[in-house]
Amino acid sequence: MTGPSDTTNRPLLFTPVTIRGLTAPNRIVVAPMCQYHSDDGGPTDWQMMHLGRLAAGGSGIVFGEETAVEARGRKTYACAGLYKDEHVPAYRRLTDFIREQGAVPAIQLGHAGRKASCHTAREDWRPLHDGDVDEGMPPWQGLAPSALDQLPRRFVPREMDRDDIRTVLDAFRVATLRSGEAGYDIVELHAAHGYLIHQFLSSVSNHRTDAYGGDIQGRMRFALETAEVMREAWPNDKPVFCRISAVDGEGGTWTLDDSVILARELKDRGMDLIDVSSGGITGDSEMPQVPRVAGYQVGFSDRIRRDADVMTIAVGGITDAQQAEDILQAGQADLVAMARELIWNADWPAHAAKQLGIENPFDVMPEEYAFRLRQREAQKTMPINQGGAETEAAMQALLGEK
Ligand SMILES: Cc1cc2nc3c(=O)[nH]c(=O)nc-3n(C[C@H](O)[C@H](O)[C@H](O)COP(=O)(O)O)c2cc1C
Repeated sequence: MTGPSDTTNRPLLFTPVTIRGLTAPNRIVVAPMCQYHSDDGGPTDWQMMHLGRLAAGGSGIVFGEETAVEARGRKTYACAGLYKDEHVPAYRRLTDFIREQGAVPAIQLGHAGRKASCHTAREDWRPLHDGDVDEGMPPWQGLAPSALDQLPRRFVPREMDRDDIRTVLDAFRVATLRSGEAGYDIVELHAAHGYLIHQFLSSVSNHRTDAYGGDIQGRMRFALETAEVMREAWPNDKPVFCRISAVDGEGGTWTLDDSVILARELKDRGMDLIDVSSGGITGDSEMPQVPRVAGYQVGFSDRIRRDADVMTIAVGGITDAQQAEDILQAGQADLVAMARELIWNADWPAHAAKQLGIENPFDVMPEEYAFRLRQREAQKTMPINQGGAETEAAMQALLGEK
């Protein structure tokens, strides 16, 4: 595949991208980021502040955090979920606001599987135990393809039987429908980072001998059925993405070649884009298995984009505007996503637009901010900053100095 087409001289990063019936204003994506600030799954003011500010910064697509399709599919009691109809209005408030800022609202749906029942990231995902009952946080048993645990947790996960598989598939279907009602334009299947779908894909965590295990076709089956269910429940003119771990990484068995096969199968089932991450099948909820150099997953995106002939997002260690532009120009991805860099600087898109020489860089922001920043920019060339004698005298007069 060649890079995205560039018919103007505008940097690709700021060229709109159309997928099915949806057009995003630029190719900067806010990556999904768990916040551990939800109330029985529903978003709170925190998410409004967090996602609202990111949308105002000018990113084209704003992903909310991994959102569980079942209550038991959360990692923690503070995780986001879309497992009740009552959640819909609160998410609708978020999507309305994100759209008002000019960005596309997107949601990532997932299921923690055996990574369920722990404390939050700030407590290192410590497993819940009986002592947490007093805090109103009793531990619960996770689901998994096989009853294998990756950590010394309170409960070994329960191996899913056919009924469990049907139940979880239905939960993905219903959560996808609710995402539509809540106003999202993109829904993403979280098949990465060692969560339930990834647990089925990797032979590290899938020891099944039935049709959902064994060779790669068997291990992919649950992921592909989930993809089909979501595609069916989502409007035809709106895109569905899938985030995968391109490799298990250290201690794993799933390889980049496997990911190319998976990406082709997902594309055949109507997935529009592969969001290329890595790791997570071993260890705790962190993903330390791939060395964290700059742009550490771009090579995975490049290979999947070329060999599976599918659109991709590159994510991981992307921090600089020219770096992001080069990734797009080289055809290594169609979009770039960022997480930590945008926490550090929610206005990264406006800074990037300036760095890349876009004529009206502040236009990526809502007008409430943009016109002030244009004024600020113009003021930099006003005489007051040039220290002219007349200006200096006027200032001194105001200060009452002789
Ligand atoms: C605070 C935080 C929360 C995250 N939560 C999620 C998540 O909910 N779903 C997901 O797929 N990845 C999650 N990630 C991974 C990011 O989406 C991203 O892939 C990773 O941080 C690499 O990008 P970066 O180098 O720009 O931070 C999270 C990362 C951070 C920093």
